[in-house]
Amino acid sequence: MNKIKRNKNKLVKRIQQIPTLPIISQKIMTIVGNENASFEELARIIEKDQALAIKILKVANSAFYGFLSSISSLEHALVILGINEVKSIVLGFSVQNFFSHSESDAFDRTRFWKHAIICSQVAKLLGRHYNMRDDDSLFLAGLIHDMGKVVLDEYFHEEFLQIIKHVCSNNSTFSEAEREILGTTHYQIAATLLKQWDFPDKVIMQVLYHHAPWYDENYGTKSIIIYLANIFTKLSGYSCHTDEKQIDPHAFANSSEIDFIIKSGFDLDYETIKNLTSHIRESISVEGDNIMRLFE
Ligand SMILES: [Fe+2]
Ligand SMILES: [Fe+2]
Repeated sequence: MNKIKRNKNKLVKRIQQIPTLPIISQKIMTIVGNENASFEELARIIEKDQALAIKILKVANSAFYGFLSSISSLEHALVILGINEVKSIVLGFSVQNFFSHSESDAFDRTRFWKHAIICSQVAKLLGRHYNMRDDDSLFLAGLIHDMGKVVLDEYFHEEFLQIIKHVCSNNSTFSEAEREILGTTHYQIAATLLKQWDFPDKVIMQVLYHHAPWYDENYGTKSIIIYLANIFTKLSGYSCHTDEKQIDPHAFANSSEIDFIIKSGFDLDYETIKNLTSHIRESISVEGDNIMRLFE
């Protein structure tokens, strides 16, 4: 068996050993999965975890969500956001909590989570910009799109170090280095784990295709939003790694990827890219550290 195949088998076995999410997320998943789910029932469970309730309120009041009035109570937040959006937020925080206690010598976790948080907010902002209806999965997919990197760092540390070294010395993309060393990528790994955790299909697909939405046959437009959210997050100065290749907005505006995105019905030329980037930067500065504090 070659090395890549051996690595892949090892990886699949290790992923199967990763424990499930905490009980509160499972309870909320069950409640939301039930057609007769009520706000009262959901509120009762969330209220048991005050830190979680506060986080939901902070997200609901974030400038990126675009609500005009301020939301001060959990019940109000649940009604305004809707059950599915709340489910997304709760799951997002569960995943973040699950991985937040570990330290890493391989890559900067604070930088990683900043990239993830900004991306979750940018995904919401783009969803609104492009009038996307039923966009309750965007926050969650934006937040966890790169979680496969943390899985690699924690459960496949040696190979993860090699990947990072490969990125630096070959000026390659992260996915290229992953394929070279592991034969699989952070988005495939994340999709496998999310399936194991019974996450909604559309979220799994958005995570799986965040670098290549053209392969997503069923949820294409949502995957494009996460693909763009990742790029706009980087253009706004919040890349995931220090040594990452910079994205040139001019080159991006003239790429074949943009052709695909425009053909899929998105209005996106160089001017729009520039305007959206500055709008996102502005929203980040309005929010200050507020949104970053969500994950402390
Ligand atoms: Fe990624
Ligand atoms: Fe990313």
